[in-house]
Amino acid sequence: MEKELAGKVAFVTGAGKARGMGAVTAATLAARGATVVLSDLCRARPELHWGALTVGDSPEELERLAAEIRTMGGDAHAIAVDVTDRAQVEAAMANCVDRFGGIDILFNNAGTVAGAAPFLEVSDADWGLSFAVNVQGMINTCRAAIPVMLTRRGGAIINNSSLLGITAVAGYSAYTTTKHAVVGLTKTIAAEFGGGGIRCNAICPGMIQTQMGVTEAEMMAREHGVSMEEAKQMMSAPAALRRCGTPEEVGDVVAFLAGPGARFLTGLAVPVSGGFPMGL
Ligand SMILES: NC(=O)c1ccc[n+]([C@@H]2O[C@H](COP(=O)([O-])OP(=O)(O)OC[C@H]3O[C@@H](n4cnc5c(N)ncnc54)[C@H](O)[C@@H]3O)[C@@H](O)[C@H]2O)c1
Repeated sequence: MEKELAGKVAFVTGAGKARGMGAVTAATLAARGATVVLSDLCRARPELHWGALTVGDSPEELERLAAEIRTMGGDAHAIAVDVTDRAQVEAAMANCVDRFGGIDILFNNAGTVAGAAPFLEVSDADWGLSFAVNVQGMINTCRAAIPVMLTRRGGAIINNSSLLGITAVAGYSAYTTTKHAVVGLTKTIAAEFGGGGIRCNAICPGMIQTQMGVTEAEMMAREHGVSMEEAKQMMSAPAALRRCGTPEEVGDVVAFLAGPGARFLTGLAVPVSGGFPMGL
């Protein structure tokens, strides 16, 4: 039987970290038959580090992750892209169209936790970084991909927001603000380009065990003077399923939203959280 994403070309941003949602989702899309382009910064941007949380700054690691997918039988390629740089994004998408014939699926996954702090404590620089990566980055990739998708009479865009894109708790101000903007962008694109066959949905992950999730658990462990295991339990206890999620579980939802089973779904912000009750 033909794989459900056979013949599709998928572009994934922020895919340069092992066990990140980008790299794992790229592997899932490839396993379902898509040609995948993994992209990430591939250059040092220390201002985007947050505590122990690093970025995908290694071109060798990005290439290794693409090669790993090829070893598993998938068709995967690596391209360096800083999503905040519109010219770089345009060039990378043009490169993707030249080499693979188009773009059918865009997973806007790149994100930063810069500015995930109490409102009065966030610097101008961190507000700027949060908007530049989490919002302008997705605007840049969408502006480059949508005209290509329209020529192919359709496409699927999946934007990685957060539970903090549909609710708010104290202490994550810039992150919460920009992730809400991601949902607004998602609905705007869904409304404007549905007639051209483009569907656009957001996913809103809760606690997911990536480096970002682990960093958050470390912060909680320090704050409450508990072990990492206890911190993870504290974080996941309120969830109906009583656990954190895995990047694979996110990848499955993205692949569904990208595929034929979701052909009548657009403009949604889908919580991927194991039933986590968030704040306001
Ligand atoms: N881990 C969680 O619990 C969680 C929860 C909700 C939402 N999210 C969101 O999921 C997405 C993926 O996060 P993750 O947990 O896999 O973390 P991650 O740190 O592994 O992934 C983020 C990726 O974005 C890349 N990136 C940052 N700035 C970039 C730029 N300017 N250009 C290109 N790439 C850039 C980083 O290099 C990194 O590879 C993010 O948007 C994050 O906000 C994560």
